[in-house]
Amino acid sequence: MVEGQIESAQTSAPPRKKIVLSGVQPTGVLHIGNYIGALSLWAQQQHEFKNYFMIADMHALTIPENIKAKELRASSRRVAALYIASGIDPEENVIFLQSALPAHPYLAWILGCVTPMGWLERMTQFKTKSGQTESVGTGLFTYPALQAADILLYQADYVPVGEDQRQHVELTRDIAARFNHLFGKCFRLPEGLYRSTGARVMGFDDPTAKMSKSLAEQRSGHAVNLLDPPNVVKKTIMSAVTDSGNEARFEHASPGVRNLLELYEVLTKEPREQIEGRFHGQGYGSLKKAVTEVVVETLRPIQERYQQITSEPGYLDDLLASGAERAGEVANRTLAKARQLTGL
Ligand code: TYM
Repeated sequence: MVEGQIESAQTSAPPRKKIVLSGVQPTGVLHIGNYIGALSLWAQQQHEFKNYFMIADMHALTIPENIKAKELRASSRRVAALYIASGIDPEENVIFLQSALPAHPYLAWILGCVTPMGWLERMTQFKTKSGQTESVGTGLFTYPALQAADILLYQADYVPVGEDQRQHVELTRDIAARFNHLFGKCFRLPEGLYRSTGARVMGFDDPTAKMSKSLAEQRSGHAVNLLDPPNVVKKTIMSAVTDSGNEARFEHASPGVRNLLELYEVLTKEPREQIEGRFHGQGYGSLKKAVTEVVVETLRPIQERYQQITSEPGYLDDLLASGAERAGEVANRTLAKARQLTGL
C-alpha cells in the first residue's frame, strides 16, 4: 500500500471512543456539589465517550460503624436512580454496582501489593476521614487501591470528578505506571476531567469547607440535597453565610458570595460580566433569591424523573444486572491480563 492509501485508510477509520469511568459512594444523600462536580458533567459529555458509571458501594464499607445493610442497599439504588434522573441515558451508558463484580476487589489486592505505604499515608482523604472515626479499618487506608482498580479495569482515558478526587486520580496513574513497569504493560494511564467552575462547591453554612455528604447529614444548612423540596432549598440558600458588604465580583468576593456566584454561573452558563452586572452593588438577598430559583428549576426535572424511576418495580434491579454483565466483560478481560502478567 502506498503512503497516500495508508493515510486515507487511517483517516477514514472511525476514531476509538475514549473511555470514561467514574463513580459515587452511596453514603448519605447526594447533594448539589455531587451533581455539579460529577453527575451533570457526566451527562453533558455522555455521547462523546464510552461511559462506565459505577456505584461505589464497597467503598461505603470503609467506615463500617455507619453502615446498615438494608440502608446501604437502598442507598445504592437511590444513587443509580439519581444517575438516570440527572440525564444519564441508561441504555447508552453502563451503570453498575461495584460489589457485583469480584474483579474489583481482586485487582485491588494486586494493586495494593504494588502500592508503597508512603503513597497511601499521604492521601489527604485518609487523614480527614480517619480523624472522624474511633477505630480506623485498614480498608479506609487501602481505599485508593480499590479506586485505582475501579478505573484501571476499564482502561479509562478519563475520570470526570470533582476537585477533591484529584489526588486519587494522580495516585491511580502512579499505581498503574508502577505495575506496568514491574510486570509489563497492562493499564492505560487515566486523566482526571474537572470543571473549570464548580469542581469544588462549598458548604452554605461554612464556605471554607467543601460541601460534603457527611457534613450534610450532621447540619441542615450545609448542603442542598438533590431530593430537597423547594422550601428546604430556599431556606438553605437564603441562610447561606455571606459577608456584610455588597461585593459581587468573582475575583473580589468573600468565599460565601463567590460560592453563590459560581453556582449561578455553572447552572445558568451566563458570562461572568453579565452576572456581576446584575448582582454587584445590590444586597446579597437578590443573589440568593436568584440562586434559589435556578437551583429549584435544576432540581425539578431531576426529582420528577427520580419519582418515575423509583416507582417502577424491578426496573433498577434489572438495569443493574444488565450493567454488571456489560461492565464485567471488560473488567474480566483486564483482570485476566493482570493475572497472566503476575503469574496468578
Ligand atoms: P464521592 O461519593 O465523595 O463524590 C462523588 C463525586 O462528587 C464529587 N464531589 C464534588 N464536586 C464538587 N463539589 C463538591 N463539594 C463535591 N463533593 C463531591 C466528587 O469529586 C466525585 O466526583 N472515591 C469516590 C468514589 C469512587 C470513584 C471511583 C470516583 C470510587 N471509585 C473511581 C471515580 C472513579 C468518592 O467517594 O466520591
